[in-house]
Amino acid sequence: MKGELRVVPDPLALAAEGAERILASAEEALRVRGAFHVALAGGRTPRAAYREVAERAGNGAGWHLWLGDERFVPPEHPASNQRMVRESLLARGALPEAEFRAPRTASGSPQTAAEGYARALEAALPDPPRLDLVLLGMGPDGHTASLFPGSPALEAAEWVVAVPAPESGSAEGFPRVTLTLPVLNAARRVVFLVSGADKRRALSSVVAGRVDLPAGRVRPTRGELLWLVDAAAGAGLEPDSA
Ligand code: 6PG
Repeated sequence: MKGELRVVPDPLALAAEGAERILASAEEALRVRGAFHVALAGGRTPRAAYREVAERAGNGAGWHLWLGDERFVPPEHPASNQRMVRESLLARGALPEAEFRAPRTASGSPQTAAEGYARALEAALPDPPRLDLVLLGMGPDGHTASLFPGSPALEAAEWVVAVPAPESGSAEGFPRVTLTLPVLNAARRVVFLVSGADKRRALSSVVAGRVDLPAGRVRPTRGELLWLVDAAAGAGLEPDSA
């Protein structure tokens, strides 16, 4: 495995450590480059970290929030990552000055959403887009963002692609829009947040260096990689093996 593995005791510690890493990345990016571009992970795990960041981040001046992936559902849908970000990171006026961009899912198609989102990324960041921080989660099947095992999206050269609804391993059958490996691997820093015993198998495969799982293919070419996992997910994994 390339990168660092850090195992923390429980989901609470994961949220605290995740929030610390986000705030430290922001501080550094704002100091050095005057702007902080972060791609946010969806799913359940990062919510508590986002809530903590919301309390401590100030007004969000210079913060540019992107979504790593999104289900093609209206923004107010319960399965929407935009909604989750609004409810956790942006709730109650936290980070009022932050800019938040996400694929447009209110109308059009997953394909037009992917194209529009790629254009927004292209307009904001040079080629390749070097996000200051990419936050990711991992599913029990080893997927990350919306890059699923065996998907042609894993070989995409475009920065953003539309993917069909995952066939298995997910109860939510929605098409999705996702950043691709070229963007994830161009980041200055990638932090995975992983919680729960159902992730243990996939995590040990990735730690063993297997690149057949999508999450194992996230290896920033000129950036740092950190796997932040709770003890339920990381049981039996030696941090030194990272
Ligand atoms: C999503 C993400 C997905 C997620 C993992 C882990 O929006 O669901 O695309 O990659 O990060 O499935 O999800 P949990 O954090 O909910 O386990």
